[in-house]
Amino acid sequence: MSEDWTELYRPKSLKEVVGNPKAVKELKDWAIAWENGTPPKRVAVLIGPPGVGKTSTALALASEFGWGVVEMNASDQRNGEAIRRIALRGALSDTFTDSGDYLSHREGRKKLIILDEADNLFGREDKGAIPAIVELIAKTMHPVVLIVNDFYGLSRKSSAIKDRTLQIKFTKIAVPTVRTLLRKIAADRSISAPEGVLEIIAKNSNGDLRAAIRDLQALGLGNPELREEQALALDNRLTSKSMYDLMAEIFQGTSPRNAQRMAWDIQETPEFIMLWVEENLPLAYRDTEDLWRGFHLLARADIMLGRVARRQYFALWGYATDLSTYGVCAAKSKPYRGFVRYQFPSYLLKMGRTKAARGAKLSVSQKVGSYCHTSSRYAMMDLLPYISVLFRSDQEFRLAAMELLGLDEEDAAFLMGEKIDSSAVKHLIQALERKRSGESEEHDLRTTRLDEIEEKAAPEDKAPDESIKQKSLFEY
Ligand SMILES: Nc1ncnc2c1ncn2[C@@H]1O[C@H](COP(=O)(O)OP(=O)(O)O)[C@@H](O)[C@H]1O
Ligand SMILES: [Mg+2]
Repeated sequence: MSEDWTELYRPKSLKEVVGNPKAVKELKDWAIAWENGTPPKRVAVLIGPPGVGKTSTALALASEFGWGVVEMNASDQRNGEAIRRIALRGALSDTFTDSGDYLSHREGRKKLIILDEADNLFGREDKGAIPAIVELIAKTMHPVVLIVNDFYGLSRKSSAIKDRTLQIKFTKIAVPTVRTLLRKIAADRSISAPEGVLEIIAKNSNGDLRAAIRDLQALGLGNPELREEQALALDNRLTSKSMYDLMAEIFQGTSPRNAQRMAWDIQETPEFIMLWVEENLPLAYRDTEDLWRGFHLLARADIMLGRVARRQYFALWGYATDLSTYGVCAAKSKPYRGFVRYQFPSYLLKMGRTKAARGAKLSVSQKVGSYCHTSSRYAMMDLLPYISVLFRSDQEFRLAAMELLGLDEEDAAFLMGEKIDSSAVKHLIQALERKRSGESEEHDLRTTRLDEIEEKAAPEDKAPDESIKQKSLFEY
């Protein structure tokens, strides 16, 4: 239900990659050279900031040239040993067809070996990584792409990497280009989005398409008409650029004082800052003691917030912010370098995404509550689970509940666990309409029948037929 739009709209071919035409062409020329033999530079290094299409371009290249892909990304264990095992063997060895026939690498399909987010690869876990890469540079029989944010950090460690690779630079995507892509995606999702909103998102993305698409999704999910005030209401998300800077200052800076000052300047609530620090702390600190101290300080900050709420004593807010900025910055035992992809708090994203569902849950609970003369809280906790099960399994119950509780499409979609525009919901609404129009006819029938019954039954004075009585909701 909540697919990731950045993945959904990942460019599938080189043509779909927006921006950086020169880089794309250089990479393509290099691939053509590989098709015709072994080029002088066997390894291409894609250099550039996050979210500009480095990974996508490499993947699109492979699919355009019909190459297989051997991918090693940051989450893999990547040390000299692992690179040798996977990349170098993949790089050197001949290939087999799917049916197991031997093919020398000349006839066989080429494989593109991608070492993604390679910044952290060097120096940290294993000194053996650099020699393994140098070996790849000299020996690989398959094209290798190395992807980094900062080439300097890498090249200063090895002259072979500096001199014997093809370096291709990717730059930030210009605001109008970002906006154009956003407009296409919005149209594809049937979201009406005024230029003003797209402009705000595009500007705020700072040339990072991943960030831009993510913001569009956060705003647009379950919200087919974007309005400028909504973009402004989500100002928090839109100030994320400065929050990324603050994260870098806290986790990678060495001056707690600077981190504290930056937090003051940003003027976000302590809750918001704490959520960011909590999300990113485990990504940034790798030493367990540092992590322990960091989380300990966040816990203290949380206690301060609790006291603010209980005592309405807002002076404590300052402590909460200081503990999670100055404190967490000072908590590390050593400086951390290298690239960290800081994240927007997943908690807030999830809340944003489930907002529609939570709204419907509350709405149904209130309707059930008022029908049953209970609180909506009781309805939500104790009745809703049963109602939802019955609602999913029985059409008659569904129709009765729609009528008696006054549920709308959104409520029904929530109870069935379907999207509001799903065929299940549509069918239900149609059935309900049929029932309503049928009922007025049925009503006439019923009265005539009642008359007949009364006529016939009059002498014997029979009790009225049970089946005519309207059933209550809970008799179904
Ligand atoms: N140049 C681009 N053209 C189209 N979409 C892009 C581009 N760059 C990034 N994106 C979007 O952002 C997502 C992440 O891009 P990615 O290639 O992983 O960036 P990088 O590797 O530079 O960090 C993609 O899945 C796509 O949705
Ligand atoms: Mg990438």
